[in-house]
Amino acid sequence: MKEKLEQIKTLAISEICTAENTKQIEELRVKFLGKKGELTNILKQMGSLTAEERPIIGQVANAVRSDIENALSEKKSLLEENEKNAQIEKEYIDITMSGKKPNIGHLHPLTIVSDEIKEIFLGMGFSVSQGSEVEFDEYNFTKLNLPENHPARDTQDTFYITEKILLRTQTSSVQVHVMEEEVAKAKAENRELSPIRIISPGRVYRSDAVDATHSPLFHQIEGLVVDKGVTMADLKGTLETLMQKLYGADCKIRLRPHHFPFTEPSAEVDVMCFKCKGTGCSMCKQEGYIELLGAGMVHPKVLQGCGIDPEIYSGFAFGLGLERIVMRRYGITDMRLLYENDVRFLKQF
Ligand code: DAH
Repeated sequence: MKEKLEQIKTLAISEICTAENTKQIEELRVKFLGKKGELTNILKQMGSLTAEERPIIGQVANAVRSDIENALSEKKSLLEENEKNAQIEKEYIDITMSGKKPNIGHLHPLTIVSDEIKEIFLGMGFSVSQGSEVEFDEYNFTKLNLPENHPARDTQDTFYITEKILLRTQTSSVQVHVMEEEVAKAKAENRELSPIRIISPGRVYRSDAVDATHSPLFHQIEGLVVDKGVTMADLKGTLETLMQKLYGADCKIRLRPHHFPFTEPSAEVDVMCFKCKGTGCSMCKQEGYIELLGAGMVHPKVLQGCGIDPEIYSGFAFGLGLERIVMRRYGITDMRLLYENDVRFLKQF
């Protein structure tokens, strides 16, 4: 009987070893340990043993049972592990698979050039002032030496919101705010005025009909410097530096006398044609130079109106049209393209 038990054990263990899945393990458990299993069948015959034999065989039978149980459970957990891994393998989702590439936009040409100009001025010690697009007419006109009923107001067809509030027609309005704020700060701190060196880029509005060179909304960059002893030479040097950084070291500028109510003297600033370098071509209409901005020495009345003594301080100011610079830079001939948001156009910059 003992031999029979050992045989069952050997057989069971060898079958357990070759089992391929947990289902087979269960079948083997029933086959060897179940109610009608082989081990039970043997144990049923224990009654025929002698009293001395019984405990010895009993012990062997228990040892065989527990060996088979251990073998079953070991193999079962091994197979379970394998089955789990196989399932994971089967259900694996490759999240690294390439997806849809999102379209990443890029800066608008107006922003590219505006940023470039800002960088150039930051390099010359200027800071950037933010103005507001909705403005009092006092700041857009009156304090810039354009009193009510001044004929020059008519040159800037204006969108009025109320009688006294409008969409600014020029960034020059920021000049007045900056000067007033600096004067107030100096007063509050009981000190003399600190030098002012700012630029202010932003949108301006005029009731213009849309065509290739006009739009009711466009962009300007205003500049203002106020200090003791500021001269027209500083203005020219600053603008020449700007143009040389934008268009190359051989770029020259030319100042032509002009009139702006808020500057005296005033000038229109032309830049040497980048195409013909001053000799005259179709781009500059044979002029050799292209008009780019307005500038001048801040009018004493404007300084005074902001609480700055024109006998002690002087300053220069300028206002340039961003669209004009962008169009020259990229050879764009129709301004409307800058606002139409046609991706085929914008992609080129
Ligand atoms: N604001 C003027 C315009 O829109 C441009 C301008 C001219 C600005 C002379 C200035 C300046 O600061 O000094 O036409």
